Amino acid sequence: MATKPNVLVTRRWPKAVEARLEQNFNADFNLADRPLNHADFRDALTKYDAILPTVTDKLDAEALDVSKPRTELLANYGVGFGHIDLDVARQRGITVTNTPDVLSDCTADIAMTLMLMVARRAGEGERELRAGQWTGWRPTHLIGTKVSGATLGIIGFGRIGQAMARRAHHGFGMKIVVQNRSKVAPEVLAAYGATQVDTVEDLLPQCDFVSLHCPGGGANRHLINGPRLDMMKPGAFLINTARGEVVDEHALIQALSFDTIGGAGLDVFDGEPKIAPDLLQCDNLVMLPHLGSATRETREAMGFRVLDNLEAYFNDGNPIDKVQ
Ligand code: DGY
Repeated sequence: MATKPNVLVTRRWPKAVEARLEQNFNADFNLADRPLNHADFRDALTKYDAILPTVTDKLDAEALDVSKPRTELLANYGVGFGHIDLDVARQRGITVTNTPDVLSDCTADIAMTLMLMVARRAGEGERELRAGQWTGWRPTHLIGTKVSGATLGIIGFGRIGQAMARRAHHGFGMKIVVQNRSKVAPEVLAAYGATQVDTVEDLLPQCDFVSLHCPGGGANRHLINGPRLDMMKPGAFLINTARGEVVDEHALIQALSFDTIGGAGLDVFDGEPKIAPDLLQCDNLVMLPHLGSATRETREAMGFRVLDNLEAYFNDGNPIDKVQ
């Protein structure tokens, strides 16, 4: 890089990553750590060579509505890029990158956390204990569902889906059933003792737990809807660490309220951080505030991965994680 490119970081990042960024780039940080709005983005697109956004930045057609942007690269901090309108970015000549691999383990760990918590009624138990309402051990108290040895359906068998399968199969002896857009190689399925089915409809009735690991965005909006929730076994559990819009929350609230499924664990929400008030009333639901990648190790690795992409882009135009 002959001169240091100007870059905008849209949210605060781990200190170690911000420090390395400052060495190699003219970096501006959003010190208030508040989400930027459309006008902020249109302004930034005229000033910066690269913008480093994340999931809380809605980079839709309105935010990208600048006819001749200075910005050449949107180097996203995160693996999901459903918040970026790729078609409009392409029309404006803007390259987009993401941060795969580095968050697969921690996201799968959170999916396991939710699965265990909801099946074993850990949220209910903790609420009871903190409210001073625990009256002591008894054989019929807060009886949950056994996870070990049960059947887990995984929708979306990319890196995170496979990390989930590894934990569930090798750690908990679970039988794995997979649905994925493309055919999964036999040796990959064999590594987790998994079988692949063609459709979501084939998967749902077979599973005690269903975990979502597909991308978000328009194509998968409400992939899990009322009719599909009805196809789940009575007593089965739904886990979503993918994107909020993948689940029709209204239909989920119905299923949870009428106990047509056993429960759910959600790390992501449609329109987050706003939470549909009726979700809060469901006791058979465990909710976390989008913590999938939230470990020190992973958040640093995500930042360094963005820097690798930035440096590669400005050195030779070939970032490793080019989405388009
Ligand atoms: C991701 O990387 O997509 C996480 O959900 C955080 O954005």
